[in-house]
Amino acid sequence: MEDIIFREMRPGDKAQMQAFYNGLGEQSTAFFNVNHGNERRTMDWFGDSPRPNHEYYVAEIGGVVAGHLFIWDTDTRVPWMGVAVRDDYQGQGVGSFLLTSLFGLLESRGYGGILLRTAQNNTAARRLYEKHGFEALGTHPSGEILYLKRLKTNEEQR
Ligand SMILES: CC(C)(COP(=O)(O)OP(=O)(O)OC[C@H]1O[C@@H](n2cnc3c(N)ncnc32)[C@H](O)[C@@H]1OP(=O)(O)O)[C@@H](O)C(=O)NCCC(=O)NCCS
Repeated sequence: MEDIIFREMRPGDKAQMQAFYNGLGEQSTAFFNVNHGNERRTMDWFGDSPRPNHEYYVAEIGGVVAGHLFIWDTDTRVPWMGVAVRDDYQGQGVGSFLLTSLFGLLESRGYGGILLRTAQNNTAARRLYEKHGFEALGTHPSGEILYLKRLKTNEEQR
């Protein structure tokens, strides 16, 4: 694979991010962008009043936004996250790269963990999360599975 870069989303990414959401296939959209909620929140970031305590990141390959990850409730010790990879880049390690990049970033900032929820039948996502140490805690009131990844502080890693 070409070089892959993890970086914060930038104001100049607006067209690319719209293309990213437009390019998600039917299944990816059903899992990741129900009612266009994630798309709306991401695209709002480019407007006048981005939501507080939300951060947006991308995985870029050869100038293309191949993957996208965001976190929110960053004013708590355990923020939530969401992740998606463009259909034509899935199965090539982009999702794993985004997660390990995020773990490093959040550990260096002293966060205690990351929460997420995913559909019971989202096998690809569940395997990805479990491979990277997320523990299934049970069923969230939404009916989705609730996952927690516990992070170690740099102090504990020494
Ligand atoms: C889930 C998703 C982010 C995975 O990203 P990806 O870049 O394709 O994943 P990777 O190539 O990094 O694969 C990492 C691991 O994920 C799991 N995985 C990925 N695709 C899989 C598939 N189609 N079936 C089963 N497991 C899969 C495997 O455990 C894999 O590890 P392995 O290659 O050692 O077997 C991607 O499929 C996606 O964007 N799906 C649509 C959006 C979505 O569902 N987002 C999550 C909503 S909660």
